Amino acid sequence: MKVACVVGTRPQFVKEAALSPVLRSCHEEILVNTGQHYDYELCAEQFKVLKIPEPDYNLSVGSGSHARQTAAMMVGLEDLFSDIKPGLVLLYGDTNSTLAGALAAAKLQLPIAHVEAGPRQYDMSIPEEVNRVVTDRLSKLRFAPTEHSALNLRNEGITDEVYVTGDVMYDIFLKTSAAVGSGEGVLESYGIEQGKYVLMTMHRPHNSDSETSLRNIIGGVRSNGEKTVLPLHPRTRANLERFGMLGDLERDEMMLLVKPVNYPAMVALMKNARIVVTDSGGVSKESFFCGVPCVSIDKVGAWPETVIAGWCVVTGADPALLEKALRSFSPAGERPPLFGDGHACEKIVDLVSEFESLG
Ligand code: UD1
Repeated sequence: MKVACVVGTRPQFVKEAALSPVLRSCHEEILVNTGQHYDYELCAEQFKVLKIPEPDYNLSVGSGSHARQTAAMMVGLEDLFSDIKPGLVLLYGDTNSTLAGALAAAKLQLPIAHVEAGPRQYDMSIPEEVNRVVTDRLSKLRFAPTEHSALNLRNEGITDEVYVTGDVMYDIFLKTSAAVGSGEGVLESYGIEQGKYVLMTMHRPHNSDSETSLRNIIGGVRSNGEKTVLPLHPRTRANLERFGMLGDLERDEMMLLVKPVNYPAMVALMKNARIVVTDSGGVSKESFFCGVPCVSIDKVGAWPETVIAGWCVVTGADPALLEKALRSFSPAGERPPLFGDGHACEKIVDLVSEFESLG
């Protein structure tokens, strides 16, 4: 079957890298990049290191307000889907690229498969919440990464075609972690030692677009006094500069500000960190895969599953809570297999094939 996969942001490139080889072994994949992320480190470098096939189509939409960005993608996708007539449109996660794909496909009455269906924060002020609620509602096949995600869907009355497959990000994490090994080379290149640094990421608009939140979060981390590696998302770098905070941070030898890192290097940095501080859902989940405790500076980035399991603590942007968590948070011993067995991609592709065979 002809399956159109829509990607656009860094985390979607990672998910695509996991699924694409398995999908291509039995279906014709048409890869569409909306162009939501376009910086070399966020996009082209990830394609290169993850050996993702060249996109068949690139819509090059770039940045913009939510409506402008999503609308530009919808227009491009509508033309494209009308032209190539896919048997299924496959979407990942909860970004504006996901939403645009869902709306364009639904209006053309094309069936949608949603990878990472069901996570919820129950807060419609979060753009990603809007994107996933709409996409889940419009989907034909819903691939939930965890039991908890499937339960969220059931609570919304969505019971048809919900499959708990495990998480494709766990599949690719296992492979990449094995390939990365100890990650010694990456640590050497940054001049850091195993277990002796904090790894921090931050990109959510309400953290990095607000001077107060940015100062609170950076202040909380700095007062911990530990070496901190901070790969900077372009949005965060631009805001640090805008608020006059960048120069001071760059002069602090305990703060290592680096460019966004590629996925294998990120895995090496995560697995060797003493603790991770993040507002990213992907990074908080991956720190759990690594068995490294996580401090979530945003409830949006915390998976309730890992919080309940005792591996992630949510502090928000409160500097005192953040400093305390960095000093004293210690995780529970066990890590339950919340995100599957590393074979989510095979399960998803089997279900796609079954969908095709049922016509
Ligand atoms: C997007 C997703 C978010 C995901 C994140 C992963 C939405 C609503 N948000 O957030 O769910 O967690 O990707 O990184 O879809 N910019 C650049 N270069 C780029 C891309 C963006 O400089 O290559 C800057 C632009 O100023 C842009 C801003 O970052 O306006 C935000 O980019 P955008 O794609 O809208 O959202 P992200 O914050 O990256």
